[in-house]
Amino acid sequence: MKTPASIRPVRKAVFPVAGLGTRFLPATKVMPKEMLPINDRPLIQHVFEEARSAGIEEFIFITGRYKDMLIEHFDYQPELMGVLESRGKADLVQKVRDSEMPAGKLFTTRQPKALGLGHAVWCAKKLVGDEPFAVLLPDDIIQHPQGCLSQMMDVYRERGGNVVATKDIPRNQTHKYGILDVASDNGKTVSVKGLVEKPSPETAPSTLCIIGRYILQPEVFEYLDAFETGAGNEIQLTDAMAKLLGRQAFHGLRFDGQHFDCGSRLGFIAANLAYGMNDPDIGEDVKKLIGK
Ligand code: UTP
Repeated sequence: MKTPASIRPVRKAVFPVAGLGTRFLPATKVMPKEMLPINDRPLIQHVFEEARSAGIEEFIFITGRYKDMLIEHFDYQPELMGVLESRGKADLVQKVRDSEMPAGKLFTTRQPKALGLGHAVWCAKKLVGDEPFAVLLPDDIIQHPQGCLSQMMDVYRERGGNVVATKDIPRNQTHKYGILDVASDNGKTVSVKGLVEKPSPETAPSTLCIIGRYILQPEVFEYLDAFETGAGNEIQLTDAMAKLLGRQAFHGLRFDGQHFDCGSRLGFIAANLAYGMNDPDIGEDVKKLIGK
């Protein structure tokens, strides 16, 4: 399907990686949470690859103290490459190449204090400029051949506006997530009329929660500029997005694929098992290990 001319392409993606990762302490005392590996690559590389395969051209990292390793991970490593090449390890050379950032495509800015996801995204305002952009949270890993952001791009190219990834959760979990208030639901996509951050199960308008993938219009920065705090006394991205409703279209996509909340230790372990089972080298042994 041809993209209508009024729908501007999404070329940039923001990766907020300035959080403290307290749920993984002491592992994350010095090492960034986003460097924890799922199978053979760190969380940040999983989301980088997802964004790259969805057509993203510019990668914006919102970092903070102790986060430099996240940038270095995407550097060209001449010594390592030299050793691998001299040992004839073509497969490993290719693997390492996959983790390299194209020249001039990585941009970084700092979030001096972890004031919340909304504030982290606001820090990218200058780098994003006046164009639509994606946000990917490395905590949320989605196992699917097409990738979640690419599925969202398909919806965006057809309909424009704002798109979030969503999934159905048990009602007793709504207080942990941003929840959609749904105007209409066609099964695959929903039209959103409201957003609430961490509502109690009694007041939640639905059981559809937002997963950490967003396609947003730049007008969201007008609302993030206010620095208003919300749930947990943090500057919430959901609150700024909620203010765009009525002004711009908002869609939720029930994506295909298995989602893992890798910000929690249980989700992190589940993701490692799932990716391990899918690995051509160790998959069968992982299955034996867990009796599958
Ligand atoms: P989380 O809500 O999981 O927070 O952030 P956290 O600090 O990383 O982890 P816990 O809860 O203390 O264990 C989701 C994503 O948003 C980023 C985080 O780095 C993570 O990738 N983030 C969060 C920021 O960049 N800045 C913030 O102020 C908050």
